[in-house]
Amino acid sequence: MSKGKFYLSQYKSDLERHAPDKVWIFDTTLRDGEQMPGVTYTIDEKILIAQKLDELRVPRIEAGFPITSEGETESVKMIAALGLDAQIVALARPLREDIDKALKCDVPYIHIFISTSDLHIETMMKTTREEVLKQTVEGIEYAKEHGVFVEYSPQDATRTDMDYLIEICKAAEDAGAEMLNIPDTVGVMTPRMTYEFFKELKASTRVPLSAHAHNDLGQATANTLAAIEAGAEQAHVCVNGLGERAGNTSLEEVVVCLAAQYEIETGIDTTKIADTSALVERLSGIYMPSSTPIIGDNAFSHEAGIHVHGVLSHSGNYEILSPEFVGKRSRLVAGKHAGRHGISNMIEDLGLDPSRDQLKAIAAEVKKLGDSGKAVTDADLYAIAKHVMDLKDEDYVKLQQLLVVSGNTITPTASVTLIVDGKEHTGSGVGNGPIDSAINAIRNVVNGFAEITLEKFTMKAITGGTDAVADVTVHLKRGEKFVTANGVSGDTVMASVDAILKGMNRLLSKENHVSG
Ligand code: KIV
Ligand code: ZN
Repeated sequence: MSKGKFYLSQYKSDLERHAPDKVWIFDTTLRDGEQMPGVTYTIDEKILIAQKLDELRVPRIEAGFPITSEGETESVKMIAALGLDAQIVALARPLREDIDKALKCDVPYIHIFISTSDLHIETMMKTTREEVLKQTVEGIEYAKEHGVFVEYSPQDATRTDMDYLIEICKAAEDAGAEMLNIPDTVGVMTPRMTYEFFKELKASTRVPLSAHAHNDLGQATANTLAAIEAGAEQAHVCVNGLGERAGNTSLEEVVVCLAAQYEIETGIDTTKIADTSALVERLSGIYMPSSTPIIGDNAFSHEAGIHVHGVLSHSGNYEILSPEFVGKRSRLVAGKHAGRHGISNMIEDLGLDPSRDQLKAIAAEVKKLGDSGKAVTDADLYAIAKHVMDLKDEDYVKLQQLLVVSGNTITPTASVTLIVDGKEHTGSGVGNGPIDSAINAIRNVVNGFAEITLEKFTMKAITGGTDAVADVTVHLKRGEKFVTANGVSGDTVMASVDAILKGMNRLLSKENHVSG
């Protein structure tokens, strides 16, 4: 597991703890995560996510619920056949047809669940506690006859009568369940309640306990950690905290908290967390707010003068862990809160050497732009500095002509003529839509000169109607250099092209010489 240096509280809690030395991470991004309204993956996308989770060294991946559809069965089967190091898990109700479908996928591990709260038993399943207990035992015994590992979940456990919950958990163990997963299905617990709940269950059961928390009241991570403090040995998580309603426990948060705050081993390669999160963002279409802990764009960004000064003196002043620990980088951002010290550092990073007066003028321009309500990107800062310092540096890449064709019967295609380093070059590109094809055409030409990757693309509509002004921000990378740039236009394609070209020019400016 990746080791990190952390700058945390020195306060020591003397609360009694029963946490294990190692916690199993059980990822359910492909099952509970896909149950999030609006999220659905193709089989190829599920395979990509499973491979990424395996690279992250997640030991258990719940690949799906095979009984739900032919496509779901097929994808679980294909993921199980990939030969990943992770154990592949299929979800099933304690019914023969569900378990047979899961077995058909050749998984080594079946997760059997059934509701146990009176509310669910009476109003949803219209059955009795006795019948639920009987089905539980029969289902687990049937799965065990086929030699698979069985995990059992009493759904809605945290709203289940405790005596009945203990009775059914014990019956599940006696039937052969090797892991008891306790779902807080609708996220009703607090950390303190969770701790007591798990302590009571642990005292009455033999096999390891697992926590499955939902985030309805924003307490999923805290509740999962409380369950671990009480002795749970496994945490169910989803990348980016996706999942039903407000989501499941976030993988990123639990893994980092366990490493940093608890020194508990998970085996996860934390340096791959940012990449995994970005892949799931792209494939799910659910982009995390910039303020999201650990993986958000602002998690390691600093704008305010005092903070920038602090981070430049010692990163630990405002970064509790090094961004590299989770595969991210620290970023100083120009803006109205920035101090001269920070701006001077960013300008130096741009390879420029302004005089004191020029620096003062640059800082004043940055604040003016910030005051107008605009986020100041790296490309904006460069443009301001160039203007103030009267630098005659020509753009390395200029747009001469762009033609994009799109419609319902053709593949969106773009052709572009660019002036690169004073010479004319033409190229073309296809894509999912007009913006994608235009950007691909530009990249096809420019990548002949320098390898530039587009790491992130976001678009906001500034006004509400179909004539809305598009505000595009891109994150581009060339080697170790990383820049943000922005484009605003009434035409979504041109806003995107403008942002891309500004970012490319920043990366290809004289200070970052192109060779070849
Ligand atoms: O939240 C829940 O109860 C579940 C079960 C299927 C474990 O996802
Ligand atoms: Zn769930």
